[in-house]
Amino acid sequence: MAKPTILVVGGAGYIGSHAVLALQQAGYEALVLDNLVYGHRELVAKLGAELVEGDMNDRAMLDQLFASREIAAVMHFAAYAYVGESVTDPIKYYRNNVVATLTLLEAMLAANVKHFVFSSTCATYGTPKSVPIPEDHPQNPINPYGATKLMVERILADFDTAYGLKSVCFRYFNAAGADPAGRLGEDHNPETHLIPLVLQTALGLRDSISVFGTDYPTPDGTCIRDYIHVSDLASAHILGVEYLLKGGDSGAFNLGNGSGFSVKQVIETAQQVTGREIKVIERERRAGDPAALIGTSERARTILGWQPQYAELTQIISHAWNWHQQRH
Ligand SMILES: NC(=O)c1ccc[n+]([C@@H]2O[C@H](COP(=O)([O-])OP(=O)(O)OC[C@H]3O[C@@H](n4cnc5c(N)ncnc54)[C@H](O)[C@@H]3O)[C@@H](O)[C@H]2O)c1
Repeated sequence: MAKPTILVVGGAGYIGSHAVLALQQAGYEALVLDNLVYGHRELVAKLGAELVEGDMNDRAMLDQLFASREIAAVMHFAAYAYVGESVTDPIKYYRNNVVATLTLLEAMLAANVKHFVFSSTCATYGTPKSVPIPEDHPQNPINPYGATKLMVERILADFDTAYGLKSVCFRYFNAAGADPAGRLGEDHNPETHLIPLVLQTALGLRDSISVFGTDYPTPDGTCIRDYIHVSDLASAHILGVEYLLKGGDSGAFNLGNGSGFSVKQVIETAQQVTGREIKVIERERRAGDPAALIGTSERARTILGWQPQYAELTQIISHAWNWHQQRH
């Protein structure tokens, strides 16, 4: 019997497109909904997936979509995700990340679609009390972006109680890397993530890379982050949706590597992988950057059976480098 159709909202973006590929590889039909504000039509085309170009806040379009297709579950990647912009323009973030998500959830309930996989974030924890961070660590986001994601988590908990909508919230740490076979990769504009910025510097597209803070209480003084390979995130989504389709209860799961890497380690590894000199400019600390953010992902391993394949920083950067070289 053919496996069911999964609606991938935001499937033309970085992580969503990798999830589309993983769904296809697992035998599912992946239907992409994306307004292409940040997504890339060509990524969806390359995968041969069907793209519905539209906004998740468009209730009439959603009703028609759910009525015309047999959709078993929704994976929801669509959001704005620039922390700095969320501070200066919170309306934009609450509207898209919360209000539009509510529209999507209402349309799902009206169509009796009750399985939902949500892209949450370690930013919901705020400044950690201790690392590594487990799922039951208090959630006190320190910026509107993190607050929007926490609000959706709370909406989902209430929707389970009231309407029986079952959800998996994946709290990602830093998504990084690219499809190992080079079909997909990261292409944010503007780019704010460390690894692509470092690789763009190696390619000569940027003069230098700024390191914000070299006096943190870490072994080399620079911030430590948990980088998780995007293909490992994608495989977790397959397990998450299958867990729900088999009747699993709603839950939140961290998705991280479990071992952190410092900004200096990332730059040194990128120099080794690319064989190029990368010019570094050391700057003052930025407000709101914790010294270390590392997650424990034991829950995803134990409950979902998740086994990340690409934990080495060298692998993560090599795959990303392969993608960036092709792009430029
Ligand atoms: N990249 C990371 O490191 C990271 C870390 C934690 C959480 N997340 C979350 O994961 C998700 C995916 O992140 P990404 O890096 O792939 O981002 P991305 O910007 O590449 O992808 C998001 C996609 O959603 C689409 N979109 C946005 N608003 C929409 C709307 N109203 N209707 C339809 N489509 C819409 C965009 O066009 C884009 O294709 C986001 O929710 C983000 O908050 C990402």
